[in-house]
Amino acid sequence: MPTKMTINTFTALKAERKIVCLTAYSAPMAAILDAHCDLLLVGDSVAMVLYGMDNTQGADIQMMVRHAQAVMRGTKQALVVVDLPAGSYETSPEQALTTATQIIQESGADAIKLEGGALLKPHIKLLVKNGIPVMGHIGLLPQKASSASMYRITGKTDDEAALLHADMHALVDAGVFGIVMEGIIEPVAKDIATACSVPTIGIGASTVCDGQILVTDDMVGLFDKFVPTFVRQFGKLNPAITESVSAYRAAVIDGSFPSNEHLFWPKVEK
Ligand code: KIV
Repeated sequence: MPTKMTINTFTALKAERKIVCLTAYSAPMAAILDAHCDLLLVGDSVAMVLYGMDNTQGADIQMMVRHAQAVMRGTKQALVVVDLPAGSYETSPEQALTTATQIIQESGADAIKLEGGALLKPHIKLLVKNGIPVMGHIGLLPQKASSASMYRITGKTDDEAALLHADMHALVDAGVFGIVMEGIIEPVAKDIATACSVPTIGIGASTVCDGQILVTDDMVGLFDKFVPTFVRQFGKLNPAITESVSAYRAAVIDGSFPSNEHLFWPKVEK
């Protein structure tokens, strides 16, 4: 029986080895990733990756619950973390608690993630007080980006670097069990990761981070319209799918599919 990752076993990895994280939005993909990942994130990137939206701001609570339920069905061991969607938690700590409680209760996921720094300290404190494990997310915050030009790397000025340090410390004080660090310039990212007492998970941030996360569709080369700097394609699924669908089309048109072995024949009495 595979052992289920808990918040404690996850945080203990910080002292043991690098932590492996990927996004997942469906049961079959979660089932493939599960044995290889410490953490599966049901990211609000689902809005872009599966629904073709322009940004993550189109994700809503219902969308996150449905995909979290699917991922839970495919997962036996990885820690499953679900993004609180934009607009569902920022207004007040109580709003964050209502949304997080609904997502955890309806999906059975292990934890939630929210985007933002020191301003969210009261929100995180209330969630943690109510027994909901919280992962933070600092640096580039896709939920706050209003256009592609705002997907900018953070920490480039001394003021930005100081704010990022303050955000990290505020999240740790509030009780997060881990922090995603996205799009932060070196060596600021390195300093923050080094100073952080909980696991840091980088995406376009330092190699010093305790672990890494990528959007799975980017990592396997399914989305290949462009490859962002922080992505390495470990596979080439887009051309592989294109090749199989083109072979299917040719076989349907030339009549070689289906052949007799794909049809149902009456049993011949002997
Ligand atoms: O929504 C998401 O996929 C994320 C990761 C990129 C960290 O937040």
